[in-house]
Parts: sequence; structure tokens; C-alpha cells
Amino acid sequence: MAPQNRRILVTSALPYANGPLHLGHILEFTQTDIWVRYQKLKGNTCYYICASDAHGTATMLKAEEQGLTPEDHVNKIKASQVASCDNFLINFDNFYSTHSEENRLFSEEIYNKLHAKGHIQKKTIKQLFDTEKGLFLADRFIKGTCPKCKTPDQYGDNCEACGTTYTPADLINPVSALSGSTPVEKDSEHYFFKLEDFTDFLQEWTTSGHLQEPVSNKLQEWLETGLQSWDISRDAPYFGFNIPGTDDKYFYVWLDAPIGYMASFKNFCDNKNMDFNQFWAKDSTAELYHFIGKDIINFHALFWPAMLSASNYRTPTGVFAHGFVTVNGQKMSKSRGTFINADDYLKHFDPEHLRYYYASKLTSQVDDIDLNLEDFLGKVNTDIVNKLVNIASRCAKFITKGNNGMLASTLDNPALFDDAAAQQSTIDEHYENREYAKAIRLIMKLADDANKYIDEKAPWALAKEPDKSDDVIAICTTGLNLFRLLITYLTPVLPEMAKAAEAFFNKSTNWSDLTPLLDHQINHFKPLAKRIEQKQIDALLAPSPANEEKPKKKKDKKAQAEPPSEIGIDQFLAVDLRVAKIIDANAVEGADKLLALKLDVGNLGERQVFSGIKSSYSPEALIGKHTVLVANLKPRKMRFGVSEGMILAAGNKDIYLLSPDDGAKPGDKVS
Ligand code: MSP
Ligand code: ZN
Repeated sequence: MAPQNRRILVTSALPYANGPLHLGHILEFTQTDIWVRYQKLKGNTCYYICASDAHGTATMLKAEEQGLTPEDHVNKIKASQVASCDNFLINFDNFYSTHSEENRLFSEEIYNKLHAKGHIQKKTIKQLFDTEKGLFLADRFIKGTCPKCKTPDQYGDNCEACGTTYTPADLINPVSALSGSTPVEKDSEHYFFKLEDFTDFLQEWTTSGHLQEPVSNKLQEWLETGLQSWDISRDAPYFGFNIPGTDDKYFYVWLDAPIGYMASFKNFCDNKNMDFNQFWAKDSTAELYHFIGKDIINFHALFWPAMLSASNYRTPTGVFAHGFVTVNGQKMSKSRGTFINADDYLKHFDPEHLRYYYASKLTSQVDDIDLNLEDFLGKVNTDIVNKLVNIASRCAKFITKGNNGMLASTLDNPALFDDAAAQQSTIDEHYENREYAKAIRLIMKLADDANKYIDEKAPWALAKEPDKSDDVIAICTTGLNLFRLLITYLTPVLPEMAKAAEAFFNKSTNWSDLTPLLDHQINHFKPLAKRIEQKQIDALLAPSPANEEKPKKKKDKKAQAEPPSEIGIDQFLAVDLRVAKIIDANAVEGADKLLALKLDVGNLGERQVFSGIKSSYSPEALIGKHTVLVANLKPRKMRFGVSEGMILAAGNKDIYLLSPDDGAKPGDKVS
């Protein structure tokens, strides 16, 4: 048994302030949130800390694209992330931003300590530089032809076609993905953190119980081949913190991101008048856990403990990595239409249903987790509706109507209840060890037992016999107490449903007191869960088929008859029109009017757009043409994939694509 009254600090990885949250993020938040809620139910002191990861070139460019300052952009994204998490019942104690004074101070302090101890080294490196944009290009901002298989248009770090990894310098004809210009090699002085100084420390740290075993084993390979120093600086222009002693060098986003855990907690402590050092001082006896995805293990299990140890702070008690969410067996991807935003899910489904589904699949391992939507429907309807809630709905009315809401003074089958209550220690272990799937399986087995008991006793049949009403009440009291026990076990996963059950039972639940409710007045029963219907899934995957695919309505005629209504200049300016070059065009299987177009939109990158122009253009005739794109149209999920904008064309039957005169370049603003 874990000791009582532990002091625990828990984090989820800080989501980038680049865009809205998706269901991969929600997996991590759900995994963390269940664990934190469980710890709190156990009576432990536990804080859940997170933040938006504000810095980096990507944030800078995203802000620029929208004409916002990086700060305003980050605040906007942060607010949307907080709102989505709130809707998914993620219960943070503090959600902050890495672009904060607290974080600047900690980052400087830690850097200064590393520097003073000789762990920082300057080296001049060659890097590709975009002369048009005036900035050094990270690998993912460079595109070119794969040196191995010669597929054009590949990113600077790896080829999507053949999987080869390389450096941008290996690309044939590299161009900047930001401006389209050919980058030049340029020298720049960079600051490196000498990770190799920490080889012995990390050898020990990575093999002493802080990591999952496969993670630890994987890292041994790295340690054996020798650790390399880590480039922690970026040149201006960059959105981040200035490196002390320089005016044009910035901390690389990954240097200050994990320090953001400390900064968010510091901000929390200052607001609550709590002692930060209790949790972060070298000799702290509090526990510290980071929940992360498998892609960011190196940052958390090598760089981060080394930085903390060198700057005289405590190191993590545990780093827990999870796998990636796939949707219907496929990587979440915008172009495949398997990318699901958190908010889009919420338009169609109950947040607790996904929490439950994820919990039923989560283990302590690093395996990927498939969100199979059919399986999701089946599991939610079977487990939550048919098994769990069914226990209560079958028993409730015999108490509320049959006995004025009064539970019996004894259970009909105390042994059944005691057996179910005796499973708590096993369920405790499963939650503690992040084996949620095992906890759910056990709880569902208990639900099966409860339903079997009710089937056998058939209170609805007994109720017809006049002298059996005491039996009916005792049986239903047993059923309802079993239900209450199971919902207590599920509280970390289904907090809202647990709350509704408390209202029904007219009594709060308590993890450390499972005594049954007897001789107790309960309230009217309201259905606690709704079934998922197939049409909700259809709606999630294809909420709005292409306009072109809708049966033609009278709308067209009407539009011709009435002059368009007026709009203000602000409304017009809100439409982001850009020159786009059609770099690929293909027919779409199953759609006779549509073409799938791939567009080069200069510094906005590439877009996929579905357009109903097939009747007037053959795909080949379009490739190389320039046209005008509505670039800030909300992406639409269609049956064939996601359409990321709309191109402009005139006409209804015969269609004429609008094109700029020669000289306009992809990405140019149209106004
Ligand atoms: N900003 C960094 C983390 C800094 S932590 C000091 C980052 N951000 S992220 O937005 O890309 O990812 C945040 C978390 O979500 C990471 O733990 C990442 O592994 C996780 N996931 C992102 N996509 C995911 C899936 N498809 N599935 C599950 N988790 C995934 O990395
Ligand atoms: Zn290739």
C-alpha cells in the first residue's frame, strides 16, 4: 500500500500555443487527470500543473500570419486550450504560459548556473538562412527533393515517401518553405549544453526506477553511443527569452519549456501563499511526475534531469510516457480526415464518453491507443448505458415510487456488496499504477455481477406479489448500493456522472468510506447517460459535405434575383485572400464534381482544397496555374479529407477560375 498523505506535483506536457487541442492531447490530459483525481480522492495533497508552450519560430510565424503580436496570439490560444480542457473536465490547479516573468527568471537562473559550472559551450555552426525572410531555417521550414528516392517537396529532416532521414543540406534544390527562396548557408554562433558532462549521472538516473522499463532500455542505447551536446540557442528573430549576456540570441523553446513546469507552479504558489521550495528544493520529499507522449522522452528523461541536477534542484520522481492516439487505425492526419479537434468532438459527444473509452484502453505502457469509432460506440453503450446505469434504472423506481424514496434498513445480499467493496484495494493498485484498463475491466465485472443478481431476483416480478414488497425494497436497496459503489470507483474517470449520482443518492461519496446507505432518503432518478447513435459518428467525420455535393437548392436562383447585401470594410478585410499556385490536381473517387487540389500558398505553406470545378477543368490543365484562395476559411472535414480553404471561380455551369496577372507570387495578399 502506498503511504498516506503524500505530497505530489503532477504535470502534463505543455501544449504548443500553435493551434487548438486535438484528441491526442486529450488522451494525455485524461490520463493525467484521472491519476490526479484519484490521488485527491485518496486524501493525498496533489497539484496538477500545466501551461501553454508559447515560444519558438512556429508561434512567431502563426502570430505574424494573423497580424497579431506573439503575446496576443499566445493568449488567444491559451484561452482556447483552457476552455477545451475545462469541457473535458480536466481539473488543473494552474494553467499558465511559458511566456511569463516567472519562467524568464527560472530560465535565466538555471542557464547561469549551467554556465558558471562550465556546462555551456559556444560553437559556430553552418545553417541555412532565408535571405528574403531574414531568418535561419529550422529543418521543417526547408523543402526539397529527397536525395534518396528523388520525391520532390520533402521536408528538411525526413522523406515522407521513403522514410529516409537526413539533414537539410542533403536535400536536392532546397527551398525555404516560408518564402520559396533558395536558402544560403550562413555561419552563426550557437550555445550548447554539454549533456555529455552528465553521462554518469544519467546512466544512474535512467536505470533507477524513474522510467518505464522499455523507455529506460531505449535510452541505454543512446548512452552507449555517447551523449552529444545540445544546441540551446536560436538567433533573432525568435519569440522567446533573450540569453543573458547577449542581445540577439534566444533560448531554444525546449530549454525553457520544461522550466515552465516550475514557473507555472511558482505562479500557483504565489497566488496561494504556498512554499515553492517544498516541492522543488534539492532535498524535497514531495513527489514529482511528468505525464508525456512518447515523442518527447529525450527532453524529459535526459536533458531535463541533467539541467535540474546541475542547477541544484530536485529531479523527477517519475516520467510516464504514453503512446499516440490513432483514429480508426490510422495516424491522426488532416489530409486523411482522421484529425479530430477537441472542440469538434465536443460538438457531437459527451466528454465523459471519451474519458471512459480512453480509460478502458490506457495501461502503464507506451503502446499507441486506437480510437476506433465503432468500438467507441459499442463500449460506451454496452458498459455505461447497458451495464452501469442499468443497475440504477432497474432498481430506482421501486424505492422512489414504491417506498417514498426510502432505502431499506438492511441489504438483501450483504455478501455481494462486501465482495464488491473488498475489490477496492485492487482498484486502488490499478489506478496508482496507471493500469486504468484493468480497473475498468474489474469494475465492469462487478457491474455484470450486480446485473446478474438483479436478473435472478427479478424485483419487477416480485413487486406484483402483495406480500413481497419488503423483499423488493431490500433487493433494490442492494442494487442501488452496488451501483453507488461502482460509480464511486469510477469517480476519477466520470466525475460529472459521479456528481449526478451523489445528487440522486442525496449523499456525497467518499473513497475511504464505502459503508452502504441504509434507511436513507434518496431523490428522484434522472437518466445518467445517453446512448451514442451512429449518426453522431457520421456527423463527426463528415459534418458538412461539400456545397457542390449538396442537392442543388432554389438558393441559386434567389441569389441571382436579389442583389447581395452590403458588408462593411472590416468584414471584407476579415477574409484572408491569397495568391495560390496549384501544384497538384486529382480527381476524387466517389465525387463526380470535385477535384482535390494541392496549393502552394508561399509562407502559409501548402493547402489541400476540394473544389467543384471538375466539369470545366481537367486536372492536368490546372497544374501550374495561379489562383486566389480564401485562406482563413475554417477547414471543413469532408468524406474524402479536409478542405483547407476555398478557391475563387466565376460561373455556375461553366466555371472560370480566377487568376491573378503574371507576377503575383504564392502567398501574396489579395486586397
Ligand atoms: N510543447 C511540447 C511539450 C513541452 S513539455 C515541457 C509539445 N507540445 S505538443 O502540443 O506537440 O504535444 C503535447 C503533448 O501531446 C505531448 O506529450 C505529445 O506527445 C502529446 N501528443 C501530441 N499528439 C499526440 C497523439 N496523436 N496522441 C497522443 N499524444 C500526443 O510536444
Ligand atoms: Zn525519399
